[in-house]
Amino acid sequence: MKLFDSNDHNLERHTFPQSLARAIVVPILNYVIPERRIKKMVAKLSTAGEEAIKRSGSTHAMESFYAGRQESVSLGKRAKEYLTHYVLSATMGTRNRLRIVESLLKEEIRERSQAGATIHATALGGGTCRSFANLFESISQDDTETNLFVTNIDLDATAHVRGRELMAGKPYEKQFSWRELNFFSATDVVAPRSVDIIEMIGVLDYMADEQALAILAVAHSLLASDGILITANVRPNSEAPFYRKTGWPVFTYRTPRQLGELLICAGFDSSHVELFTEPVGLHTVARARR
Ligand SMILES: C[S@@+](CC[C@H](N)C(=O)[O-])C[C@H]1O[C@@H](n2cnc3c(N)ncnc32)[C@H](O)[C@@H]1O
Repeated sequence: MKLFDSNDHNLERHTFPQSLARAIVVPILNYVIPERRIKKMVAKLSTAGEEAIKRSGSTHAMESFYAGRQESVSLGKRAKEYLTHYVLSATMGTRNRLRIVESLLKEEIRERSQAGATIHATALGGGTCRSFANLFESISQDDTETNLFVTNIDLDATAHVRGRELMAGKPYEKQFSWRELNFFSATDVVAPRSVDIIEMIGVLDYMADEQALAILAVAHSLLASDGILITANVRPNSEAPFYRKTGWPVFTYRTPRQLGELLICAGFDSSHVELFTEPVGLHTVARARR
């Protein structure tokens, strides 16, 4: 397996003043504000804070993290939005993860499109399919011709509704199909060894090893012989006690190496497992070839 520090200039990093603010704010969130008060406080912080509490662990919360800082008129609200999106790693690291996923998808799709291939992708727990939507937008700016078809398998009907809304009226709208299904039954709707790209983000984070290996086995069985899996896992990090107190679903933190070992254990060849970390140290993104 190979480890890379992503030094892409599009990724966000804490500035020096933000790091100073973190040195004060993170221990307060972790150890000073009691659990019974933290949910109320976070819900009042910002739109992302509200979504993180009301719809914790969902694609809707992810969308509010991806949206970044909202314009606010009052100084107080602006400061809270700043704290949410530029002081905490939770939101910044998640936007970085999305950007790395997009750039890996783009690289793969460009190569396959140049060879004139039709590309079949499946998102397992894809939520709104935000990475693919952004990808289509950026491909259309480059004028790359692409025959990419995406199947999203997600249990949450509201994720599909929101994803469809996101694509509505776009030229690539018909290249998506939305399946409301448990991804452990993915082979009911997708043929084994037929998928070129599987994207599974925000999923392993919530699974102990046994369940993670089971869904990775499903992903492995769906991939064509030269197919790739793009996945991710949250790393052990300094904000962990704060997340627990907000009531966010319990994380299984994995180091980059632990994520790599999990993929190898699931049958991916170790020489084809690449791990990319992002600058705020919250997530590892993995690319594994079958
Ligand atoms: C944290 S969200 C991530 C959404 C998206 N992949 C992203 O990164 O923005 C996790 C998604 O996985 C879906 N999910 C969780 N367990 C699932 C299961 N057993 N079958 C299908 N989808 C599932 C949830 O409904 C949710 O949309």
